Order: sequence, then C-alpha cells, then structure tokens
Amino acid sequence: PQPRPSSYDPAVKHPNVLVRTWRRGRLARVAVSALAVAIVAGTVATAAVAVWWRGADTSTIGTLSFANELHIPPLARSTVEADGTRVFDLTARATTASFKPGMYTDVLGYDGGYLGPTLRAERGERVRVRVRNELDEVTTTHWHGMRLPAEADGGPHAPIEPGETWAPSWTIDQPAATLWYHPHPHGRTEAQVHRGMAGMFIVDEPGAATGSLPDDYGVDDVPVIVQDRSFAADGSFRDGGRFLATSGTLGRELLVNGTWNPHHVVTTERVRLRVLNASTARVYEFGFDDDRSFDVVATDGGLLDRPVPLDRIRLSPGERAEVVVAVRPGERTVLRSTPPDLGVDPFTGRGNGGDDSFDVLELRAAAELTPAPPPATRLGTEPALDPADAVRTRRFSLDGDSTINGRPMDPARVDATVRAGSVELWEVDAGGQVHNFHVHDVQFQVVDVDGEPPPPELAGWKDTVYLGGADRIRLLMWFGDQPDPDTPFMFHCHLLAHEDGGMMGQFVVTADGRPGGPLSTDAHEGHGT
Ligand code: C2O
Ligand code: CU
Ligand code: CU
Repeated sequence: PQPRPSSYDPAVKHPNVLVRTWRRGRLARVAVSALAVAIVAGTVATAAVAVWWRGADTSTIGTLSFANELHIPPLARSTVEADGTRVFDLTARATTASFKPGMYTDVLGYDGGYLGPTLRAERGERVRVRVRNELDEVTTTHWHGMRLPAEADGGPHAPIEPGETWAPSWTIDQPAATLWYHPHPHGRTEAQVHRGMAGMFIVDEPGAATGSLPDDYGVDDVPVIVQDRSFAADGSFRDGGRFLATSGTLGRELLVNGTWNPHHVVTTERVRLRVLNASTARVYEFGFDDDRSFDVVATDGGLLDRPVPLDRIRLSPGERAEVVVAVRPGERTVLRSTPPDLGVDPFTGRGNGGDDSFDVLELRAAAELTPAPPPATRLGTEPALDPADAVRTRRFSLDGDSTINGRPMDPARVDATVRAGSVELWEVDAGGQVHNFHVHDVQFQVVDVDGEPPPPELAGWKDTVYLGGADRIRLLMWFGDQPDPDTPFMFHCHLLAHEDGGMMGQFVVTADGRPGGPLSTDAHEGHGT
C-alpha cells in the first residue's frame, strides 16, 4: 500500500476544512433551529386557529325557557287632517330598558321605548310623520322600502338636529307590504340602530288578496323584529366586531321586538309572522325546530304571486318575509335560525356567523284554536317589469369593506343619474364576501342569479338582496316619476358597519336622466351603457 502524503492526515483536519465543517454545522444548526421555530410557530398558529375556530360559533339552541311574552309594538296613533292627510308623531328619545331580570340597558328608541311603534297606512293615502329628535345627537328617519319623493326619504341628507322636528309628507303609492323605518345619519347608522332605533311600517291595500291572510295585528298577524345583541356585565349592549368578523357587530343572543327569551300564544289555526331582520350585520336562516313547512306569502315589497312552501328562509339585514304557519291545538314549536349559507369560504363564513344557530321565538298554541281563513292560492297582482324595457345597465361591485366600484361614499358625489319613470337593470356582485344590496325608493325584481332564474322566494318584490356567493345578480327596477335633481337617494350594503364605512353610493332621479342639480357637477356614472 502507498503511504499517504504526509500533508494529509485524516485525523488532523486542515483549517479550511475545519471552517467549512464549522460552517456546515452552523448552517445545519440554523436550519434545525429555523425548522424548530417553524414547527413551533406552525403549531402555535394551528392551535390559535383551532382555538379561534372552536370559539367562533355560537348557539342558543335548547338554552331558552321562552318565559317572556313577546312584546307587540303598539300601532302608532294618527289623526286625519281636513284634506285627508294621515298624521303620525314619532319622538326619538334615549331611555332605559330591562331585557333580562335585574339588568338595565341604556337604549334609544321612539316614543319612549326600545324600538318604536308600528306605523300603518293604506295605499293611496297621504301621510305626514312629524319626527321630533330628543336625542343629544343628530339623527335622520329613513322609510326603508317606501316609494317617495327624495326629500321625504330621510337619508343622510335630511339631518334632524337635536330639539328639531322633521315632517316629511308623501302619498303611499305601492302595494301592501311590510316596510320599516330606521335612522340613516352619515356614518352613525349602525350606532343608532344597534341601540334600538327601528320600527315597522305596514302598508295595507284595500281589496288586495291580503284579506285571505291572517290579519289581526298582534294576534295572528305578528311582527317579528329580530336583532342580535351581546350584553356586558353592566347590562349595556356590547358593540364592535367579533374577532375576524368582517361583517360588523354580531351578538350572541337575540331580541324579538325587544323581548329576550320570548314566546307568543297562538289562538288561531294559522299565524302570519312578519319577520324583519333588523340586525346590523347578522344573516339568519329561519325555520322551525321540527322542520315543518310554512308558506312564504310576501317579501320586502309585498305579496308573492302565490304562497311558496319552504322549511327555511334566509334573511340578511334589512330583508323581510311574511310567512304563514299552521299549528295544532296545544302544541309548542320554536322558530329557529340554523346556520345560514353565506356562500363564502369556510373561514369567512364561520367568522361572520355562518355556523351560528339560535332559538328565536316559541309559539304556544292554545288548547282550542279559532279556525283560520283557508290558505290563499293567488296573492300579489302587481304587474311584473319586463327586462326588455330597461333603458340602461349599470354595474356595481361591492369591494373590500367600504367601497362600491372602488370608491367610498361621498355625500358630494352623485354616482348615477336616472331618468324619472325609466326602468334600469343593475348588475351587482360582492366579490365573494358577506354583503347585501339595498336600493332606496324602488322595489326591484331579481332577474337572475349567476344567469339562473331566482328561487321562488326571491322572485317577488325586493328592496334588499343578499349577494354573498353570487358572481352577478341582475336587478330590474322602475324609478319613480317624481324627479328631484337636488336630493339623492342611496344604494348600499345593508350591513350597517359597511354602509357607515363608505359602502354606499348615491343616485338622483331627473326629468331627462341628465345631471341637473348642484351635486351632479362631479357626476361619475356607474359602469356599463
Ligand atoms: Cu334600510 Cu339606506 O336603508
Ligand atoms: Cu332604505
Ligand atoms: Cu357589506
């Protein structure tokens, strides 16, 4: 065997080799510690996600005794003036309410309570509402779903200063429907609605098919105003988003007409529930604990053509549905909300109440029930709009949490100028996020959802529609014949934190469809032709 070169002794490493080895060792150590850090970080992150995931849903199913009798908002009193105008008075005021035994909550409302009375008037009637603001902040009163002149609409351009009274007047010119009212001050809508400012406005239509539906207010025709709230230990409402909730304030408990833990005694074979989602951010999927079916007879803007039997109906903030449900003598059944399909990814869904469930209201049927009118088969008669009549298509994309078509709301900018009396097609999408879309002054028809005809419960008159999950919803709407170039109407997401944050735009109705008023000098039209 050849002797090795003396300079090479495997037992004695050359300095370069030593350095290289040391470097390799250091690299390895760095790699190992980086890996360790990554593993720990990954584990911590996974654990954090798991902890978040576990705590991110909420349920009240089975936890309520339904001990409290459902409060029925009183019907607002009115007087009729010599010229036939029906006049209502509403006073916005701060007060204290007790929702839970021994707990007191500072709230706002109308006429001295939480929420407000139910206004009621007939199609064709002229109404005036004198709204007095006794709050210590500016408010407005918006008539959600109402066809009216822009100056009576009560949006952000109609502030009522503390101590002032605002008295809009208009003629009711739409079919029977369950509408509502709530404040709409610039940037403060969520704060005021969350504290209790909202009420129902029922429009009646003499001679309409509603006569075949239960219609004894508070007995078998019952307002069901659903709101989610969380209570702090001192009884106050907690606001602010849940961690990772992009939709706004989500509460862990429900109030119905301001009643916590409620039941309603049913004395008739069938009961009509006028369900209003008056929550600031939460989407519900209403149904019964035994999955019984009910008839959906009306949506936001009035009666459907015919009753639609369903066992679940989804309502996003601002939406309404009138449902008729049959009960058997002596039974109890619970109106529930089961996890709504928000149409978004599982994390976004769970973070925004997509896995939440609630017991809403127990119906307690009396031992003997008064016979109800037979179920109606034909209901709404309002003629449908024809997409061929649309003179214009506009596109509105709700993006992020605070813009539409990339721009946040600017009270000094008009986003669309519409010709009075014309029909338009509006295409709307929410970019895969949790949003809905509401348009003032009009009731629209959903033409299609991603090219498919809408489900029957979305085929009637609507003023608010949930967008999440759809790439394109097309809405057909007819604009009123009362041009006012100076006063804009709003369109916006009805998740109130989004609306307040800027996810809102303005349109004006002018006689010729051309910008006319002072706000229109900087007009940017919606996309499309
Ligand atoms: Cu219910 Cu612009 O609002
Ligand atoms: Cu509205
Ligand atoms: Cu939104």
